[in-house]
Amino acid sequence: MLGILKLGFVLTLATFCETANILYAIPYSVKSHYIMQRPVGLELARRGHNVTVITAHREIDHPPNYHQVIVVNKTIWDVLGRERPNLFTLVEYSAEQLHKEILWKGGLALTEGSLKSAEVQSLLAENRTFDLVISELFFQEATYALAHKYNAPLILISTMVNCMKHSLLTGNPLELATTSFEFLDASNPTSFWGRLRNLYLNVYDYFWWRYWFLEKQEELVRKYIPNLPQPVPSLYDLEKNASLLFLNSHFSFQSPVAFLPNIIEIGGIHLKESDSQLPADLQKLLDEATEGVVYVNFGSNVRSTELPIEKKNALINVFKRLNQTVLWKWEAESLDEKPDNVVVRKWMPQKEILSHPNIKVFLSHGGLIGTLEAVFHGVPIIGIPVYGDQYKNLIKAEEAGTGTTLLYHDINEENLERILHEFLKDDSYLKRAKELSRRFKDRPMSPLDTAMYWIEYVIRNKGADHIKSPSLKMNWITYNMLDVYGFIVIIFSLCSYVIYKIWELVSQCKFLVRIGFGHRKLKCL
Ligand SMILES: *[C@@H]1O[C@H](CO)[C@@H](O)[C@H](O)[C@H]1NC(C)=O
Ligand SMILES: *[C@@H]1O[C@H](CO)[C@@H](O)[C@H](O)[C@H]1NC(C)=O
Ligand SMILES: *[C@@H]1O[C@H](CO)[C@@H](O)[C@H](O)[C@H]1NC(C)=O
Ligand SMILES: *[C@@H]1O[C@H](CO)[C@@H](O)[C@H](O)[C@H]1NC(C)=O
Ligand SMILES: *[C@@H]1O[C@H](CO)[C@@H](O)[C@H](O)[C@H]1NC(C)=O
Repeated sequence: MLGILKLGFVLTLATFCETANILYAIPYSVKSHYIMQRPVGLELARRGHNVTVITAHREIDHPPNYHQVIVVNKTIWDVLGRERPNLFTLVEYSAEQLHKEILWKGGLALTEGSLKSAEVQSLLAENRTFDLVISELFFQEATYALAHKYNAPLILISTMVNCMKHSLLTGNPLELATTSFEFLDASNPTSFWGRLRNLYLNVYDYFWWRYWFLEKQEELVRKYIPNLPQPVPSLYDLEKNASLLFLNSHFSFQSPVAFLPNIIEIGGIHLKESDSQLPADLQKLLDEATEGVVYVNFGSNVRSTELPIEKKNALINVFKRLNQTVLWKWEAESLDEKPDNVVVRKWMPQKEILSHPNIKVFLSHGGLIGTLEAVFHGVPIIGIPVYGDQYKNLIKAEEAGTGTTLLYHDINEENLERILHEFLKDDSYLKRAKELSRRFKDRPMSPLDTAMYWIEYVIRNKGADHIKSPSLKMNWITYNMLDVYGFIVIIFSLCSYVIYKIWELVSQCKFLVRIGFGHRKLKCL
């Protein structure tokens, strides 16, 4: 019944929206980003929109009105011209180093690689019109110029959570005590030192981004995006003028904070209750694992095979002594000295595995995609963070009572065994994870329907300028009320000065009277 009502509702919405020509620019080649953004393009096409997606990941099975413009497929290491490092070495990187050495340089090189790809260049040379441009917000701002090229509204989609920069650009309250930098590396973000570090990183990132990185992105716009109507606004102004910002978060797991109506949380968008089937062999294995399963996967980037030998052996020795089956993403053909209860695979259908009731705990790196998958399916997490937002995601799981962090340098048999036993023996982690899963899904509309609703809202309302914050049109002084506060301070000071002067005069008169000067001459009393 409810399902039918919901379907009716969605169909009603769909009929109110003419189909549009949409350009979906998500060329960033890192797989986890694509996993989150993939359903948006496919669902828009399923609803009848003509979708042209600029991407590094080819879909085989898609609606006929879903058109792919494939960019040259390079990893961030290819474009940086350096060999892929052992990603576990990134645990030594500070947030500043991560930006300087990887994210900024890599972002620029990947953006350039995408824009100069033959298929993109031929799209840009055609005489095309688009009603809407949706672009990923992640170190590839040059793609925002496409909105200007096609004179179309711009929607931004982020695979991350909010931060100060996004709030500044949308005119949202900063809420700096509870909104931490995307890659904050503090162990306690709300402590004094955590907040100081947060402020510092936000400011550091903002200035480098605004006065260096954006300039470099603009060079790429000039070099690779032809036929731009003049004058071309700055990328900063284009980003500020975006109609919507989608974030990969939800208040039921991350902190509730104030958001303007054009900032929409769609965390969990890539997840459905009935995901595709598990392959038969894994299904059988999971069904038969009545003692439960420990699932080990450090994500699509980090490879377990790169663990140093002593840490790898610690894992193997602890797994060997478990009664549970261990399912481990191990990226080599085989694992030497593999215990009987350990099953390795080079790639795992993770969402489907996590949805199996026999999964007891997820040993993870704490990436946002995997963490949200565990939250959605109610699986406790033991996280070994390596870089980026992983520390932060695991702190959220810890606060929810469904996870814990094991620092990379603390990996040894004793620590791993202690934590695993705690999670396997004490079912309160599992209970809280189930509860978190229930409230994560408890929303008026699924995240995918929410995204569709708002995208079509922007189409229906021709860019929906009315949902953009009025503060964007104000200057910094007006927005922060500094003129009004200044005025009040001046009036207050003037009054105080006048009162003081009168009081001074009055006390002088009193004094003169007291010492016997004729009070008839002095009329002040
Ligand atoms: C839909 O998009 C494709 C590819 O971008 C384009 O060739 C086609 O003309 C578009 N169709 C309409 C009806 O605009
Ligand atoms: C690009 O490479 C990634 C892995 O490096 C792969 O997952 C993806 O399918 C590739 N895309 C295309 C279009 O071949
Ligand atoms: C593109 O469109 C413009 C104006 O609409 C027209 O003058 C021009 O000839 C077109 N170019 C091509 C290659 O079709
Ligand atoms: C494994 O199972 C046996 C028998 O049920 C039990 O005695 C033992 O404590 C279990 N080991 C662990 C590590 O849970
Ligand atoms: C901002 O976007 C709207 C559409 O959402 C567009 O009409 C307007 O021209 C844009 N303004 C600037 C300064 O780009």
